[in-house]
Amino acid sequence: MMQTPLIAALQRIVGEAHVLLGDATAQYVTDWRQRTHGQALCVVRPGSTEEVSQVVKVCAQAGVSIVPQGGNTGLVEGSIPQDTGQQVLLSLRRMQAVRAIDAHNMTITVDAGVVLQSLQKQVDEAGFLFPLSLGAEGSCTIGGNLATNAGGTQVVRYGNTRDLCLGLEVVTADGQVWEGLQGLRKDNTGYDLRNLFIGSEGTLGIITAATMRMYPKPAAQLTAWTAVPTLEAASALLALAHQHLASALTGFEVMNQQALALVDSHYPHLRVPMWQDSPFCVLLEASDSESESHARTLFERLLEEAMEQEMVADAIIAENLKQAHDLWHIRESITLAQAAEGVNVKHDISLPVSRIPAFVEETDEALRALVPGIRLVNFGHLGDGNLHYNTQAPEGGDAAAFVAQFEGAIGDVVYQAVLRHGGSISAEHGIGTLKRDKLPHYKSPVALQLMHRIKAALDPDNLLNPGRVL
Ligand code: FAD
Ligand code: MLT
Ligand code: ZN
Repeated sequence: MMQTPLIAALQRIVGEAHVLLGDATAQYVTDWRQRTHGQALCVVRPGSTEEVSQVVKVCAQAGVSIVPQGGNTGLVEGSIPQDTGQQVLLSLRRMQAVRAIDAHNMTITVDAGVVLQSLQKQVDEAGFLFPLSLGAEGSCTIGGNLATNAGGTQVVRYGNTRDLCLGLEVVTADGQVWEGLQGLRKDNTGYDLRNLFIGSEGTLGIITAATMRMYPKPAAQLTAWTAVPTLEAASALLALAHQHLASALTGFEVMNQQALALVDSHYPHLRVPMWQDSPFCVLLEASDSESESHARTLFERLLEEAMEQEMVADAIIAENLKQAHDLWHIRESITLAQAAEGVNVKHDISLPVSRIPAFVEETDEALRALVPGIRLVNFGHLGDGNLHYNTQAPEGGDAAAFVAQFEGAIGDVVYQAVLRHGGSISAEHGIGTLKRDKLPHYKSPVALQLMHRIKAALDPDNLLNPGRVL
């Protein structure tokens, strides 16, 4: 690899060992789903905000664009470089420090490269709860969670990553550092910069640190697994769960039979309950501030009424934490089971909860007509109106050929139905490159124009993650 003046400058900033070249970049340039392979000029691994700032400045001087990356678990191909070999991939993973814990303010300030699971653990050790939870938590970073405004399985109670954040530190496109880590719950001094950077997928600035909220730990958490006959019944169960549990409802996930069949087939040791006899299963979680027995009583009353009203055909309440963990593990294994089955076509959509049953019924029908035998793998955060409406090649079919032939047409069917029902084509994963060309068809022209103006104002030379989102 030729040592360009830029590479030499980057080596001076972060040290030679932290500028990776050639084969050493391999794990950074392919997306999690193994669909796309990019090529980087180099991977640079700064260890501090000051180093990030200097890296951005020398790249800006050289006119070389930067792709920020955290854990590289994103599902929309936004964190890998283009295949030109001309972009610098900036990995935040070395930045792992906990900068401060403020128990009275109930906040924790961390570097952007802290892995989500480690953040959860450190908050737990401090006596609090950090509620963001998702299948990739063992490798995604809090910087990546913020850059994508990740959702996950606790949104119904605690909100998206945006709602958990009270402050950011960001390196701008010209290498300045904006320090906004005060951790204030109220601050109306003009435009909300924090919320502008959250969800911007690395296109407006590089998040180097964040101040996140910590929450009181619940006294008890209970998990139930239920068999439900239809999606209407699942929506009715959600409404009933809100009534019975109020703010104690912390999780409400739906999984269709096909999704659970894939988990059963790839991970039979997980012993998926009830899936063979039920078109849908729903996983519910209650977090109670009083006691386990109080939570159990609430849960039992809810499930009794749901069974009386035939919303639920069968139910189990986990007896202990291990059982609860095992049930959640089944839910979190769907994405992996889908990947093990072969490349597939994903849609991460949101709709008003009340529209979901009709949306699924008509979209299922249209897709079955388009691709006979198509496997419809439907699951997700029903409590937030967010479905992962995914599809897989017919049983025994060629997965790659299925994706190559039908991805576009399937996407059109799904997104047109989303539009008709008043939904969004990206609920939580973001736009990246995967949905970039769809966005103009599904977002208002005024909104798009404003987004282009913001991008031009904050990154006039288009150096931060160009070609992503817009
Ligand atoms: P990356 O993948 O590295 O990057 C994602 C985007 O953010 C890219 O555009 C990148 O350029 C940008 N970026 C990363 N770090 C920074 C930074 N410090 N500053 C600026 N830009 C940055 N997502 C959900 O929302 N909910 C889920 O339930 C969920 N479940 C998942 C389950 C599995 C098994 C997998 C593989 C993924 C799942 N995801 C989910 C998607 C993914 O985990 C999230 O998008 C996560 O927030 C990405 O974090 P990351 O550190 O891996 O970011
Ligand atoms: C999840 O909720 O498990 C992921 O966001 C979904 C996916 O893989 O589509
Ligand atoms: Zn999800």
